[in-house]
Amino acid sequence: MIDSITKLRAEAEAEIAAATSSAGLEEIRVRYLGRKAQLPNLLRGVRDLPADQRGEVGKVANESRVALEALIDSRCAQLDAAELDSRLVAGGLDVTLPGDPNHSPGRLHLITQTQRELEDVFIGLGFAIAEGPEIELVQYNFDALNHAAAHPARLWTDTFYVAGADDVSNPASLVLRTHTSPVQIRAMQAQAPPIYVIVPGRVYRRDSDATHTPQFHQLEGLAVDEGITLADLKGTLLAFARATFGDEREVRLRPHFFPFTEPSVEVDVSCFNCSDGVMAGGQRCNLCKGSTWIEILGAGMVDPNVFGHVSEHGYDPERVSGFAFGLGIERIAMLKHRVPDLRLFYENDVRFLRQFG
Ligand code: PHE
Repeated sequence: MIDSITKLRAEAEAEIAAATSSAGLEEIRVRYLGRKAQLPNLLRGVRDLPADQRGEVGKVANESRVALEALIDSRCAQLDAAELDSRLVAGGLDVTLPGDPNHSPGRLHLITQTQRELEDVFIGLGFAIAEGPEIELVQYNFDALNHAAAHPARLWTDTFYVAGADDVSNPASLVLRTHTSPVQIRAMQAQAPPIYVIVPGRVYRRDSDATHTPQFHQLEGLAVDEGITLADLKGTLLAFARATFGDEREVRLRPHFFPFTEPSVEVDVSCFNCSDGVMAGGQRCNLCKGSTWIEILGAGMVDPNVFGHVSEHGYDPERVSGFAFGLGIERIAMLKHRVPDLRLFYENDVRFLRQFG
């Protein structure tokens, strides 16, 4: 009996070594080790042997089974690897090569790029980044920013109210924030003066045409400290204008109105597309329309009434003063890169997007 086991094992070993495919190997496994195969049959017969033979025959048969299983496993791994190699060669596929067509890893959207460039400028000037919720309380979006009860921006025709906000004058009603200015209040509640923060983020208005989309991005600035003046505002914005549009730029402040700044200004940057309103070819400048100035943002000195809403956080208008500004990130990107239509930013046509970065 031991002889026939040994013979069977030798035959199986020879066949395993000679197997040329994993399918062939599987067939060998079934034939020698499968439920109805010879070796298991022999093993089952061990119990019928005389007691003095059982031990040794059982041991030899079992060792053979274990050895053959191990041999099949290792041969199987060899054959699998060889078969994968030949499939790769036959298919001409080198999985280590870049894709075809060769797709670039992508790039940041122009709005994100512009936002980050602006953040870098203001971080360089000592500002920190603050953020606030896009779904905002009427209290923060309007009331604490000194908006009169009848201010037109409060109308549901201008502003997206969140479902359930039936009473638009209720400070607890929720809106999609119409500007990043409510974060002025939140930042001052969270930190006593001095404070120097910028607030990039999405804002929402019920508007839609070539220069307005219902959602867009703003970057707010707020500086509150002892002795802050309009000159500090102008110097800060001049540094931003030069970093963004070139070292030759100047800025100009024009009187304006915002409910939460007093005085309020609109800020223009000197045109970077012409000289004296005339372009190189002799035509009137199509960017500043010949005026030599381009409007870029709104700003002003923080209204003492606004400090009144955060007075318990250390904002005493007798002691501190501040400036605030708010710019449209899309507007900066459009001016800088001559993007003709705001909607291009949101259509996500790669032919547009891949021109930047
Ligand atoms: N929040 C204003 C707007 O959206 C801009 C602004 C910000 C004006 C800060 C003054 C100070 O139009």
